[in-house]
Amino acid sequence: MNDTPNTFPTVLPTLRVAARNAGFTMSCEERTGSLLAVLAAARPGGRILELGTGVGEGTAWLLSGMDQASRLVTVELDSAVQQVAREQLGSDPRVTFAAGDGGAWLEAYKGELFDLVFADTWPGKFTHLERALELVAPGGTYLIDDLCPQPGWPDGHGSLVKRLLAELEGRQDFRSVRLAWASGLLMAVRSA
Ligand SMILES: C[S@@+](CC[C@H](N)C(=O)[O-])C[C@H]1O[C@@H](n2cnc3c(N)ncnc32)[C@H](O)[C@@H]1O
Repeated sequence: MNDTPNTFPTVLPTLRVAARNAGFTMSCEERTGSLLAVLAAARPGGRILELGTGVGEGTAWLLSGMDQASRLVTVELDSAVQQVAREQLGSDPRVTFAAGDGGAWLEAYKGELFDLVFADTWPGKFTHLERALELVAPGGTYLIDDLCPQPGWPDGHGSLVKRLLAELEGRQDFRSVRLAWASGLLMAVRSA
C-alpha cells in the first residue's frame, strides 16, 4: 500500500496551473486534501469553515467530499488569490467566500457552530486560537497542517508550533491526535 490519493477534485489541475501562474506555493498537499474530503464526507449536512482560501485547492477538496446539504465558508485576506477560487468554484452554491482578515472575521462571526474547521492561516491557529475552537460544535473537528519543519519557516516558527501543540494537547475540552504525515497535521475533536 502507498498513501497517494486516487480520487481528485476535477478542478484541481486548473487550480494548480493558476497557482503556478500566480506564484502561489502555499496550497495544501494532496494527502491533506484527501483527508479534508474524507472529514467533510463524514459530516452530512455539515457546516465547514476554512481559514485561508489561497487559490482554492483545500476548498475544492472539501467541496468534493461534502454532500449537497453541507455548507462551507472560506476566508482569505488576499483578494487576488481568492479570486482564482471564486472563478473556479464560485458557481457552487454550497460555498461562501469571505474576503478580509481571518481574525476580524472570527471575532465578528455570530452564526452557528462548525462541524469542521480547517485553520490554514495565522488567525485560528497562531492567533485567535481560542475563538476558532469556540466555534467548533460538540463532536466537531479542528484540523491544522504544516506542523513538521519546512525549509521556508521563519526564525522562531518552530517554537510557535511547539507552543501551539502544547496548548491544544493540554485542553480538557478537545481530544487530539498528531499525524506526522503529509506536512504534519493535528486533528482535535471537541469532546465536551
Ligand atoms: C496555507 S495558505 C491556504 C491554503 C489553502 N487552505 C489550501 O488548502 O490550499 C494560507 C492563506 O492564508 C492567507 N492569509 C494570510 N494571512 C491571513 C489573514 N490574516 N486572514 C486570512 N487569510 C490570511 C494567505 O494569503 C494564504 O492564501
